[in-house]
Formats: sequence, C-alpha cells, structure tokens
Amino acid sequence: MASILIVDDEASIRNFLALALEDEGHETREAPDALAALGALRERSFDLVITDLRMPGALGGMDLLRTVKNDQPEVEVIVLTAFGTIDSAVEAMKLGAFDYLQKPLSGPAELRLLVSRALEHRRLASMRDVVAREREALPPLTWGDPVMQPVVRAIERVAPTNATVLLLGESGTGKEVAARTIHRQSRRADGPFIAMSCAAISEHLMESEIFGHERGAFTGATAARRGRLELADGGTFFLDEIGELKPELQPKLLRVLQERQFERVGGTRTMVADVRWIAATNRDLSAMVRAGTFREDLYHRLAVFPISLPPLRERVHDIIPLAETLLARISADLGRPLLRLEPEARKRIMAAAWPGNVRELANALERAAILSEGEVVRGEDVSVSGAAPPAREDPRTMAEVERDAIRRALDLSGGNRRAAAARLGISVRTLYDRIKRYGIG
Ligand SMILES: Nc1ncnc2c1ncn2[C@@H]1O[C@H](COP(=O)(O)OP(=O)(O)OP(=O)(O)O)[C@@H](O)[C@H]1O
Ligand SMILES: [Mg+2]
Repeated sequence: MASILIVDDEASIRNFLALALEDEGHETREAPDALAALGALRERSFDLVITDLRMPGALGGMDLLRTVKNDQPEVEVIVLTAFGTIDSAVEAMKLGAFDYLQKPLSGPAELRLLVSRALEHRRLASMRDVVAREREALPPLTWGDPVMQPVVRAIERVAPTNATVLLLGESGTGKEVAARTIHRQSRRADGPFIAMSCAAISEHLMESEIFGHERGAFTGATAARRGRLELADGGTFFLDEIGELKPELQPKLLRVLQERQFERVGGTRTMVADVRWIAATNRDLSAMVRAGTFREDLYHRLAVFPISLPPLRERVHDIIPLAETLLARISADLGRPLLRLEPEARKRIMAAAWPGNVRELANALERAAILSEGEVVRGEDVSVSGAAPPAREDPRTMAEVERDAIRRALDLSGGNRRAAAARLGISVRTLYDRIKRYGIG
C-alpha cells in the first residue's frame, strides 16, 4: 500500500489512473498541474508521483520531476509521455525518473506492474541507505585480557544461532561493538543491522519508530511509514538501553518477541518480524524486575543468553591493545600518520582508572592525538580525568550539601516540616529559614 500523487491536466486520465491504483489498495491524490502537485508534495509525503510531461501553466512535468528529485530524491517518479515524444522520456530518465508510460495507456495491467516495480525499487533503496549508514561504524572487537576470553567465546558461540542476546555492562564497555560483532558473525550478516535506543524518546514516537504507522494513525501521520522492525527484516534488531523502555511499550515488545507478529500503529494488517534480537543495558535489569519497573516475562524473553562485558578496570591487559586499535582509527580520522605511544604515555594510560571505560579511553586518546606532534604521543599529551583512582570527591559546596539534606529530610517525612526538623536535629524555625534561603519548594 502506497501513497501516489497523480498529475495530469486531463481529468479522464487522472480518473483512470486513480481507479486502477485504488483497486490495488493504494491511496491516490490528484493534481491538475505541476504547481498544484508541488503544493500537495509540501503538504504531505508520497511514495510515488506519476506525472504528465506536457501540461498548461508556468511549470511543466519536467520541472516537477527536477524539483522532486532535488528535494525528495527518495520519491519515485513515473512520467507519462504522448506517443512519439520518446526524446523527452529519455531526458526524464536522465533526470532520475524511474520509468515512463506511453499514452494512450493500453490498460491497467501495464500501469500496475510498473508501479509495483517502482515501489519495490524505493523500498530496496531506502533499505540500502539504512544498511550503508549502519555499516559505516564497525570497529573490530579488540581484546587482550584473559578475562575477555569467555566473553569472546560466548559471542562466537551464540552468533550463528538465532538466540536473543542480552548485553550487560557499564557505559562504554563495548556493548554496541559486541552487538555488531554478533551480527557480523551471524547468518544474517548480509542483512541489515538496525539499532534503536529506547532512551529519551516519547512512548508514542518510539512505538511508531519500531512498528511503523499507517496514515492517519495519529495527528501528523500524513503518510504511512515503515518502522525499523520492517527495515530490519532478515537482519538484526538491536535495542539499546532496554532498561529505559517505557512501561507502556513493554507488553507490545513482549508480544513481538513471543509471537514474532506485530501491526503498524493504527494498522490492522499483521506482519511477521523476521529479526534476530539483541538488547543492551547498563542498568541492573533483574533489580528492576524485583522493583517492579521492568516486566518479569519480558526480562526472561530478553535474557535467553546474557553476556556481561566487564569494566575496563577489570581487564587491564585490554588497555594497550585497545589503545593501539583506537589510535589507528583516530590517526586515520585526523589524516595523520599512524601514531605510536611513547613508554611514558603507555604508563599513564595503564595507571588510569577509566571509569568511563573504553569510550573514555577513546576520548582521551583523541585529545592526546590532537596535542601530539609528529608520529608519537608523549606522556604529557595524555591527560586522564580518572588518573587518580576513585578518591570519591564530593563536588558540592557546603550550602548545596545542606540544601540536599533538607530536601531529603522533607521527602522522608512526607513534607512534614516538624518531622523533618527533628530528623535534621534543628529547630523548626531554622528549617523555615533554610527553606526560604535555598528556595526549596
Ligand atoms: N572491544 C572493543 N574493541 C574496539 N573498540 C571498542 C571496544 N569496546 C569499545 N570500543 C569503542 O569504545 C566506544 C564505546 O563502545 P560502545 O559504544 O560499544 O559502548 P557501550 O557499552 O554501548 O556504551 P554505552 O552504554 O555508553 O552506550 C566506541 O567508540 C567503540 O568503538
Ligand atoms: Mg551503547
């Protein structure tokens, strides 16, 4: 089902096309000239435009084609040419038209075939776009510490199966790298790897991002849209930060994990999700289950094969191999010769705590590379925030500590000021005074 804009000055031709395409389940909209067509294109999105070339008005079909291909290159265009004007058809193809139809049209069959080919072309093109973008970021999984050996073995073992994998580990430990490695070593390696973060987007947006939506499913849904689940068809679907998944969406995800079936938002057609699932989180999901914020049944579905990535401080023999891999990538990105670490730089890197794990190491190396001269990174180029292992400083000022203590006491006393004052060991009058001073509401 697609949305198709039909542009022709002859109403009878528009009618013929509209009827033939609506019979196929497509939605159509008609425009009598190029200007009206451009107006419609600004208003909503179309999958396909079928346009006559010669029309009255300031703009012709060729101008329309040029504008569409310039502004919305993903929209397919089929042009209609009158018998004997094959030259303009050729020109239209050069401008990016998908194909042309000659008038008079022989019947609906030829039209339908061409339209279905154009729509398939569009589907594959958008898929290739996504896949190409996803392929760009593919660092190889680097390791050197024996602690990582069982992790790497687990990845190798599980990759060729279709099992759902749950990747656990602190921020920056390489969960996404592991997910991509699993995909690359799987039978789905030639299919797409589609990643989606469950954090920081509203429940509604998220639902339509995953499942897609039909036209009119909600305000603003002016055209039907495929979700990422459809884009991931035949490949791997990576749900990052699964611990942030909104409670309303948890049963919906559970259903597609269990039954492999789903519908677009506002849709009735049931679709099958042919994807391999990988989820990741830096949260303690089992604790969230105990606290009642994450569904237990969903947890069990996701945790079929959990893999924990240890923090970098627990795999010190990974640090130098990782630093070298990362530095090679950074040198290339900066257009520098391959940078080497001087012994003093190695020492500093080895001594650091890396609370932000591999991501922090990568950032520190990038800064060092920028500061370095020639082909070496010197000790002085390396600055690490976590260099002095956790002395746990409290960055707050005295006033902030006091304010936080008062807030907490108020929370714990359910807002009762007398009780809060007693808890803090101060008089009610002093408490009032502080509440006013710190603007505690
Ligand atoms: N084993 C590894 N080999 C090579 N590069 C790695 C490895 N682990 C992590 N990195 C690099 O470190 C950075 C962080 O890794 P990644 O994004 O996979 O971490 P993450 O666990 O998903 O972190 P977050 O929880 O913050 O999303 C990336 O730049 C990645 O390329
Ligand atoms: Mg990540």
